[in-house]
Amino acid sequence: MTHIVVVGSINMDLVTLAARFPAPGETLLGERFLTVPGGKGANQAIAAARLGAEVALVGAVGDDTFGRQLRQGLHEAGIELSHTRQLAKGHTGSASITVAGGENQILVVPGANAQVTPAQVARARSLIERADVVLVQMEIPLDTVEATVRLGHRLGVPVILNPAPAQRLPPAWLQLASYVTPNQHELAILLDADPQEDFRALMQRVPCPVVLTRGREGAWYRRHGEPVHQPGYAVDVVDSTGAGDTFNAALAVFLAEGLPQAVRKACAAAALSVGKLGAQGGMPQRAELEAWLASHDSEAGGR
Ligand code: RIB
Repeated sequence: MTHIVVVGSINMDLVTLAARFPAPGETLLGERFLTVPGGKGANQAIAAARLGAEVALVGAVGDDTFGRQLRQGLHEAGIELSHTRQLAKGHTGSASITVAGGENQILVVPGANAQVTPAQVARARSLIERADVVLVQMEIPLDTVEATVRLGHRLGVPVILNPAPAQRLPPAWLQLASYVTPNQHELAILLDADPQEDFRALMQRVPCPVVLTRGREGAWYRRHGEPVHQPGYAVDVVDSTGAGDTFNAALAVFLAEGLPQAVRKACAAAALSVGKLGAQGGMPQRAELEAWLASHDSEAGGR
């Protein structure tokens, strides 16, 4: 079984469905409101567990109802939480999400996620040492992200750095990551580059292997120095929240099958994830993904 350690955020997502996004200064009536588990770290942990991995999460929740609910949900999903702290003070991270026409807008308040420290990562060393892959995103402090990348590199454990939400990152430690997985917008921020510049040219400037996600258009990666395109899968989109997290988790789970296969399965898992509401709602179980891929590929081959 694949062992994955996720270092990242845990949020409660406060989701409003609307016919369209309000303009600045405008008040609109929404259609529905729901409170669902989220946070990029927790989402990636749940997605990896559904895909059959054994998962541990390094993170933090606050001393509140959301924190207790989220911890309980992660525990019930089989995630190992010995390195997820319940803080004595402070709020659990939250994300205000508006979903309109399958697209989303997200505003995150980090809360307890801002207390995930480099020391906490150092204490999880024995867990990380035993991992096949480490996943880290950027809703926790940057020095903790750096500590994770450096520790994984020192221990020889592959680290997938999902640079979301994006910030410019120092090339000196970015190059220690095994893979970096931005979308096109995040890639430009990461490199402090012109977002209009061709993404294939920008990919060449990343100082470590890069897998670029492009939503319904699939993903790009480099092989023998050349950009390779994995087309996306056409599906009806209910809610794209968490699609990137599902992609990253699947990439980690299937990495041992080689990058082309892992990227293909990651695109398929992400496509399946957008069919239901909520970041974690549509994340597929492994059997569902394998069955969907088999039927999809035989249909595509038969055309
Ligand atoms: O990637 C989606 C996630 O981003 C949401 O679950 C929200 O919590 C924000 O962290």
